[in-house]
Amino acid sequence: MTARVRRARYLFITFTDTPTLDVAAFLRGDVRLGAAGQAVALSVLRGQAYPLRDADLELLASVQATAWTDAGAFVEGRVAELVDRGLLVSDADEGEAAALRLREESITESNWQPYGLLLHALTRWSGVGEEAVSLESGVLDATLAEFVDRYGPPPPALTHRAGARIELPLESASPLGELLARRRTTRVFDRERSMELSDLAGLLRWTFGAHGYARAHDDFVGVAKTSPSAGGLHPVEAYPLLLRVDGAEPGLYHYDAGRHALTELRRLDMPHAEDLAARCGAGQPWLRDAAAIVLLTARFERTFWKYRGNNRAYIAVLMDAAHLSQTFQLLATERGIGALVTAAVNGAEVDEELGIDGYAEGALALLACGPGAAGPSPLQPDFAPFLPRETEL
Ligand SMILES: Cc1cc2nc3c(=O)[nH]c(=O)nc-3n(C[C@H](O)[C@H](O)[C@H](O)COP(=O)(O)O)c2cc1C
Repeated sequence: MTARVRRARYLFITFTDTPTLDVAAFLRGDVRLGAAGQAVALSVLRGQAYPLRDADLELLASVQATAWTDAGAFVEGRVAELVDRGLLVSDADEGEAAALRLREESITESNWQPYGLLLHALTRWSGVGEEAVSLESGVLDATLAEFVDRYGPPPPALTHRAGARIELPLESASPLGELLARRRTTRVFDRERSMELSDLAGLLRWTFGAHGYARAHDDFVGVAKTSPSAGGLHPVEAYPLLLRVDGAEPGLYHYDAGRHALTELRRLDMPHAEDLAARCGAGQPWLRDAAAIVLLTARFERTFWKYRGNNRAYIAVLMDAAHLSQTFQLLATERGIGALVTAAVNGAEVDEELGIDGYAEGALALLACGPGAAGPSPLQPDFAPFLPRETEL
């Protein structure tokens, strides 16, 4: 039984229109649907949306978030449900209610700004399967035709604005430009071929490793990495999940950038390692065939230490992860290794596997790499060359 409760600190309420019978019309013998506003609570602590009754709204409005209220004044069942949904926080010292309170404490201590927090919490997937990414594999086949039939064509690939134009010289590609142009997403990995540990080491070192440092204060050391990072804070961590890497056992590791080493978190046999790869990546089947997956998390508390209450800070962390992904893919391209990035991750499950709470540190995305299989595949469309001003789309 819950003794004391307070309103959850981070709680958002929205409304949806729910269809209702138009009673006045019904009495005239006419069946018509009207719409009534339905309050919906967006629970940060559960990452779920819950419809609210009027009595719930009143109860939530009648307690404070910053002080405890004796729960005895309320109907016990209602309080228990609101606590379970993470809309009220209880002072229980064990069980799920205590876990939700600890989650809220971690969120507060990590300096989350509410808007970024709402996005992070309500998009933290668990149990999402292959359907979420079916379009990735269907971009050039019948799925696309059905999609266009249903929704019409997408906005155009390239855009023009009216106005005077200065035609720019067609600079030829530098070696870096050529590397950039060769980068392609690999979705068909060759399961028969493993990856050299030295290749993985190169990808990790030059993507996630530090190559310089600056002590700006007795208590603040910044490191230089090959990608930019908001505030120079480099909050993104890399957790390799090794499947087929010569000289390393399959399992889950942490990349220790300071020592340029892999710290073993858990050995896995191959079927479990492959299942975990697919499960982390929302069921994308091609992830099973990669030589290695790199799970990307962010230590939000590091970036939010500086960007306190800043409503763009979460966006900045996502951008950090995106830069690292491009760096990783370019390094893989340079070595002739296939690579892929995806934001379709079951973040809540990745967090659990890694033993992190999702808020001080939480999953963002994953990378996959390994030898690509030869030959064309509908999973990897061929692009014809495009030349500005000559190619008409
Ligand atoms: C943020 C982001 C998310 C992506 N998610 C997926 C994904 O879930 N599954 C996948 O197979 N590819 C994913 N991709 C790869 C894109 O499909 C790919 O970059 C795009 O089709 C362009 O092809 P290219 O990378 O070969 O140039 C993602 C790429 C980005 C940048």
